Amino acid sequence: MAILVTGGSGFIGSHTCVQLLDAGREIVVVDNYCNSDPEALARVRELTGKDFKQYDADVRDREALRRIFTENHIEAVIHFAGLKAVGESVQMPIEYFDNNLISTLVLLEVMKEFGCKRLVFSSSATVYGAGNQPPLTEEMPLGAPTNPYGRTKSMIEDILRDLCVADAEFSAVLLRYFNPIGAHPSGRIGENPNGIPNNLMPYVTQVAIGRLPKLSVFGDDYNTPDGTCLRDYIHVVDLARGHLCAVDYAMEHTGAEAINLGTGEGYSVLDLVHTFARVTGVDVPYVIAPRRDGDLPAVYSCPDKAKELLGWETEFGLEEMCRDSWNWQKNNPTGYNK
Ligand code: NAD
Ligand code: UFG
Repeated sequence: MAILVTGGSGFIGSHTCVQLLDAGREIVVVDNYCNSDPEALARVRELTGKDFKQYDADVRDREALRRIFTENHIEAVIHFAGLKAVGESVQMPIEYFDNNLISTLVLLEVMKEFGCKRLVFSSSATVYGAGNQPPLTEEMPLGAPTNPYGRTKSMIEDILRDLCVADAEFSAVLLRYFNPIGAHPSGRIGENPNGIPNNLMPYVTQVAIGRLPKLSVFGDDYNTPDGTCLRDYIHVVDLARGHLCAVDYAMEHTGAEAINLGTGEGYSVLDLVHTFARVTGVDVPYVIAPRRDGDLPAVYSCPDKAKELLGWETEFGLEEMCRDSWNWQKNNPTGYNK
């Protein structure tokens, strides 16, 4: 009995594979490496001392998925595979709808064919939209996402809720991630963005290592304590552990359940920059720049439901997140490119 991890070579997927293997679970990974490097999976093996089956395939490839389900006894799926860059999704909407929606539909059809009814899905805080006041709770009405990437997450949540109505035996856990940062404390796996990073922490670490000259802080005139936006940063190892709890939950329950994975704390851009400099001893030059389109002033979770249903709580704070992001960047200045 194995857990299929789609997108297992990616940032969150690779950390989750480590947690699953460390917990003694059998895993099977499928990835097409469109946004990752297979070296990540080699390092998952190195870190855990455990082996697993790895399929180099696109989740939209129905025959490849059938082969995986034929060759393995898959009891549950964690579905990370998808494209995730907000700005790119505005430029390339067709590719985003194609990749994120079709991969999910093909996966669900093949799961149905093989009688597999347990799914953990990577959703996002973006589904709350702009109209809700933080802390965000799962029962709040979902907002209208402002970009194609966000729409794929909302649409997939809807598909999974509909599926759970149609099939009373199906279990779908919709994990709404807040802002995952950090890396495995070993510094062997971490976030490996292509090109210039869009997200704050990889941008900060690339400034710190000297690959980029300075950070632009997008706006200091928001209605927040220091004028910069608040986000709920969560250590990727805590997030990965949440998936282990979610798989166990999916094994024992049916229906669709949305669950936030965040710390419940909102930190500002400048909190993160100053904490990073303090913890690492490396200065991060920055300038205040205009606001970035689409950014909300404050996005942070209420994490109570995850604690209640999954028995899960975060263990790491912002200092550990900064320490481990830097440890990864310092030890892998150009990511997995050796
Ligand atoms: P990532 O890009 O590092 O990982 C995604 C993995 O999926 C990559 O290895 C990529 O090669 C693979 N992949 C993409 N499309 C595929 C396909 N059609 N077939 C096979 N493999 C495919 O991203 P991540 O940060 O690890 O995110 C994982 C999931 O979590 C994504 O669905 C993402 O949208 C979601 N999410 C991420 C964040 C974040 O800030 N990182 C926040 C909210 C939600
Ligand atoms: N920021 C900067 N400078 C940068 C990059 C980011 O000041 O160079 C600021 C942003 O303006 C924002 C904060 O840092 O205030 C965090 O930005 P990120 O891009 O790291 O994260 P977001 O909260 O914008 O986006 C994240 C995920 C998306 C998801 C979104 C909504 O990356 O996938 O949360 O929940 F859709």
